[in-house]
Amino acid sequence: MASFISHTELVAEEIIPTIDFGLLLNGTPDERSDMVQALAKACEDWGFFMVVNHGMPDQLRDEMLEAFKTLFDLSNDEKRPYVGGHVLDPIRIGTGFNSKIDIGKCWRHYAKIFVHPEFHSVPKPLNFRNISQEYSKCTRAIGLELLKAIWEGLGIDESRVKEALKLDSCFQILVANLYPPYPNSGTTFGFLPHSDHGLVTLLYQNGVDGLQIKHKDRWMYVKPAPNSILVNTGDHLEILSNGKYKSVLHRAELNSEVARMSVVTVIGPALDAIVEPIPDLVNEASPAVFRGMKYRDYLEQQQSNSLVEKGALNLVR
Ligand code: SIN
Ligand code: FE2
Repeated sequence: MASFISHTELVAEEIIPTIDFGLLLNGTPDERSDMVQALAKACEDWGFFMVVNHGMPDQLRDEMLEAFKTLFDLSNDEKRPYVGGHVLDPIRIGTGFNSKIDIGKCWRHYAKIFVHPEFHSVPKPLNFRNISQEYSKCTRAIGLELLKAIWEGLGIDESRVKEALKLDSCFQILVANLYPPYPNSGTTFGFLPHSDHGLVTLLYQNGVDGLQIKHKDRWMYVKPAPNSILVNTGDHLEILSNGKYKSVLHRAELNSEVARMSVVTVIGPALDAIVEPIPDLVNEASPAVFRGMKYRDYLEQQQSNSLVEKGALNLVR
């Protein structure tokens, strides 16, 4: 079995950085500036951080988890319209990574719904539309505010980058992952090692840990603080920052006793934005390491191929 899915190289968890969202939003200029620097360091050193004081009501997060649980519990007939579609279909329910191309090592059920710029929803459970709309709005606001602070930390002009990425039409997907209990065999994972395609990903879990990240060439557990939102930087932030902020490999381990669930929001550029390293970060000493590519094309190719670590980034090299 390939060594990248071995459990033996795991190291004990370290504490990943914490970002106080309240200080980004309402801190004094000095507090905000310190937090922007802390965020820049977290992106550069880790690519993963916990966001606290984010303002998302606990109740909304719990309702979102419950609504997805009910969605997964619908009968196969009710789920059938969303099974086996194209990767750019706005609502998809399946198993593994991509049910069509999987090699069968991902023990995972997923539901993926495109929620911005166009909002999609399922008719059942009945309250799903309202909850997912509210949840998406809230996570999008947090994600975009974090991006604003990230541009500031990179020293790049917010309005230029907003325009280049067409962020008013940013692409947002709402994904739920359900990992039923399964013995930790060392070869089967909930989710194989991958990086995320967007700019930032926001994750909330049902209190059951299982996420591991590759930090300094070693796999380690991540145990987010109970009410925090876990955020990681994606491939398109790596492209945009010309490699300064790397998207980080992560995978989900299975729990042999209880089901684990995560609700994930990916926020990316507009689908038709062509993303390339931001010119301010490209110079003779630091030439562009990626070429421009339309986000939609990247997404389609990444999601249609078997997931192999960060291989999708080769598309833009
Ligand atoms: C993901 O990478 O999208 C999910 C990881 C997790 O469930 O912890
Ligand atoms: Fe991911």
